[in-house]
Amino acid sequence: MSRLFNVAVAGATGAVGNQMITCLDERDFPVKEITFLASSRSAGKKLKFRGDQVVVQEMTEDSFEGIDIALFSAGGSTSERFAPFAARAGCVVIDNSSAWRMDPDVPLIVPEVNPHAIARYTNKGIIANPNCSTIQMVVPLAPIHRKAGIKRIVVSTYQAVSGTGKKAIDELFNQTRAMINFLDYKTEVYPHRIAFNCLPHIDVFLDNGYTKEEMKMVHETRKILEDDTIGVTATTVRVPVFFGHSESVNIETHKKMTPAEVKELMEKSPGIKLVDNPSENVYPLAINAAGIDDTLVGRIREDESIENGINMWIAADNIRKGAATNAVQIAELLAKDYL
Ligand code: A2P
Repeated sequence: MSRLFNVAVAGATGAVGNQMITCLDERDFPVKEITFLASSRSAGKKLKFRGDQVVVQEMTEDSFEGIDIALFSAGGSTSERFAPFAARAGCVVIDNSSAWRMDPDVPLIVPEVNPHAIARYTNKGIIANPNCSTIQMVVPLAPIHRKAGIKRIVVSTYQAVSGTGKKAIDELFNQTRAMINFLDYKTEVYPHRIAFNCLPHIDVFLDNGYTKEEMKMVHETRKILEDDTIGVTATTVRVPVFFGHSESVNIETHKKMTPAEVKELMEKSPGIKLVDNPSENVYPLAINAAGIDDTLVGRIREDESIENGINMWIAADNIRKGAATNAVQIAELLAKDYL
């Protein structure tokens, strides 16, 4: 019989944690025993896993004895504090926060792109899951980079509120309901109303005028594609969508690729569904990406303003491929090839 693993989900009560639990079940991950961890606020709550009711425990420094793999999605500071204790207990952490992503000793993994880098998990016992917007961008860009060499990327994102967590999902719902009923609304999660609005502001602003989310896309893309020469500039925008991030991506390549060649490459690359028939109104939509694991790619066309340029529109489920599915895929590779 193949090996079964003791798995913990840290942040089990959150939007991504919940999806991690679903993904472990859906993908038949070989779980021996499951442990659900969250803050003291949720201790004692029960969550379902494969027909069993599992009691949520408060995460402490001692929560990881006997755990083989811990999927973390409990925020950056929580992860910074607890992941080292988990690793010291001999458990491999797959962390969805930004806390460890740029640590040179921590591999940053998208299984379709750089699975070989997982081997470096032994440095710290931690593997980082990239930012949701970066994951869905590098899935289609990696095969293009291998074939034609990417010189520069200009990306604008249209990001769903679920990326901020459960409270933001409630805020969009409550503001929308209040507004269509001509009632007063509250603004608690975001600095401005998100209902019927677009906010060019995700995470905090940095000294260079970019947001941290924008700079995550720059640094993480280079680390995953293992090429620091790629120029990346990003504008990240929160939009009133519940699930599914969309992105407008413009790339300049070293070698020329025609739109037909890019489409052919997309069709044979893993994790991608080509959705590109504009004359029939067929293109990637957040509402079609929500609930599935594929990254949808379409609107592929030449950037006629430069020699070697391509434009595309990408949509993916930010909670699934952008977070939980990617983490569980990493766990699958870890279980199969390393543990
Ligand atoms: P809790 O529900 O008990 O607050 P989201 O991103 O959807 O808001 O979810 C965040 C997740 O991280 C939740 O499961 C939350 O638990 C968990 N979390 C937040 N702070 C801590 C902490 N200090 N220790 C453990 N889990 C935490």
